[in-house]
Amino acid sequence: MLVSLLALAGCSPDTTANSKPAVSPTPVAVPPPSDPVAAAKGAKVYAEYCANCHYDGAGNRAMPALRGSTVVAAAPAELSKVILKGQRGVSTVNGQKLNAYMPALDYLSDEEVAAVVMHVRRKFAGVDEKWSAADVKALR
Ligand code: HEC
Repeated sequence: MLVSLLALAGCSPDTTANSKPAVSPTPVAVPPPSDPVAAAKGAKVYAEYCANCHYDGAGNRAMPALRGSTVVAAAPAELSKVILKGQRGVSTVNGQKLNAYMPALDYLSDEEVAAVVMHVRRKFAGVDEKWSAADVKALR
């Protein structure tokens, strides 16, 4: 299942064309987490459910960068919606629209989505902001 999703998204981990960053995302000063328990959980969810496509967040020719992404920086609700609903053909790389597909990860629990949203925003936008399972639940 995951293998076919990866193929659909064009993000098989070992293609050399994809591994070279096509973008140079702005470096981000990562603040220490105000909620270390949620931070640890968010890092685990990222490693398990996001990193196989988004790697370290730097992006490449086939994958939008999360570091420096306006979607990540904007608001936790926007990022939560991308995770819960997936998206197709919205993101851009170097000003070019991708023809790419991110599946909905709506099988993640409210707690997992909240934790990964906090993790991704802290790591890639430098924002340490509380986001709760109840906030995520309200968006489903
Ligand atoms: C199967 C591969 C895959 C997985 C797993 C995946 N993504 Fe994505 N993601 C993509 C693709 C492809 C796009 C671009 C979609 C498009 O063009 O609209 C994307 C787009 C995004 C964007 C929009 C970035 C921007 O600035 O346009 C965000 C934010 C994002 N993903 C976060 C996540 C998070 C957080 C997770 C884990 C909870 C995750 N993704 C899991 C493939 C994936």
